Amino acid sequence: MTKIEKIVLSYSGGLDTSIILKWLQETYGCEVVTFTADLGQGEEREPARAKAEMAGVKDIRIVDLREEFVSDFVFPMLRANALYEGQYLLGSSIARPLIAKRLVGIAREVGADAVAHGATGKGNDQIRFELAVNALDPSIKVIAPWRQWNIRSRTQLLDYAEKHRIPVPSDKRGEAPFSIDANLLHTSTEGKSLENPAEVAPDHVYQRTVDPVDAPDTPEFITVGFERGDPVSVNGKAMTPAALLIELNGLGGRHGVGRLDLVENRFIGMKSRGIYETPGGTILLAAHRGIESITLDRAAAHLKDEIMPRYAELIYNGFWFAPEREMLQALIDQSQAFVSGEVTLRLYKGSASVISRASPIRLNGLRLRSWAARNGR
Ligand code: ARG
Repeated sequence: MTKIEKIVLSYSGGLDTSIILKWLQETYGCEVVTFTADLGQGEEREPARAKAEMAGVKDIRIVDLREEFVSDFVFPMLRANALYEGQYLLGSSIARPLIAKRLVGIAREVGADAVAHGATGKGNDQIRFELAVNALDPSIKVIAPWRQWNIRSRTQLLDYAEKHRIPVPSDKRGEAPFSIDANLLHTSTEGKSLENPAEVAPDHVYQRTVDPVDAPDTPEFITVGFERGDPVSVNGKAMTPAALLIELNGLGGRHGVGRLDLVENRFIGMKSRGIYETPGGTILLAAHRGIESITLDRAAAHLKDEIMPRYAELIYNGFWFAPEREMLQALIDQSQAFVSGEVTLRLYKGSASVISRASPIRLNGLRLRSWAARNGR
């Protein structure tokens, strides 16, 4: 095994990453720095600090990345109306490059030669971490304990925890839990009974949206304001990117907006069934398409739609920091120069429907058109 001097671990404070922390300290016999990102997953940050301290970590980093996540990752992606395989709003895929970027940043700052993560060996997330770290700093090694250690089952994992006096919460003792990934954009739930696509998902997998059947019987009308392709206000009130998404998550969640039960094709070829809840993101996609419908030139809009699946696939497959993604982004961003105005939507029993749209640009366009006609151009 190659000698490692210092490792930065992406650490949630949960059972799995606590075990990984211990395993890294034991296996590599070096200092491990923990990095806990707050992406709005709704977990408290301080318990992660206490657990890292207990494990003897000297350098504990807890960083609020919510604004950066929404403004520099979610919104640029939304400008493209990105959907993977026609339906998935990429809530987990878009979070990985930001976590990787910070891991690399901290590694450089503290002089670490490796970073580590808790993604398993079957999924997309391990690939996204690895590609992003490679793209940002090829000199930094990526340690993926789930691919390297000889823990093969949940029982072995709990045995390891017990042997090393890592506290196992009593609800983690029984059956393996669902695999959940949450942030300001979505909650994704996979595993257990969901692995059988023929089985209906139980009600309790849903965490941030009500069942549309139980949603209010009266619709709610909301207005989203856009400037140059990005949402900037809700009901006339200007908000920061993260605050705006939080607001729309609340509104959408109450009306059962943004539930998705999907079987998707993973990067490594296997199919995977998951439950997604993306209330605010679903509203924003509808609203963004609404404002684009009156502000984009026809050919520009159609070109965007042509490249969208390719762009979404790049994000899904972990190529956020690749030149081809940046090239497509430049094209998408350029298209948004006049995508400004307001869209009103009706939220009702699981749906977010655009009912009106208005843009000052449209009026300017009209003025220019008639001016051009008068001048015989
Ligand atoms: N399948 C989704 C993706 O690859 C979500 C993965 C998130 N992980 C989870 N344990 N739910 O983007």
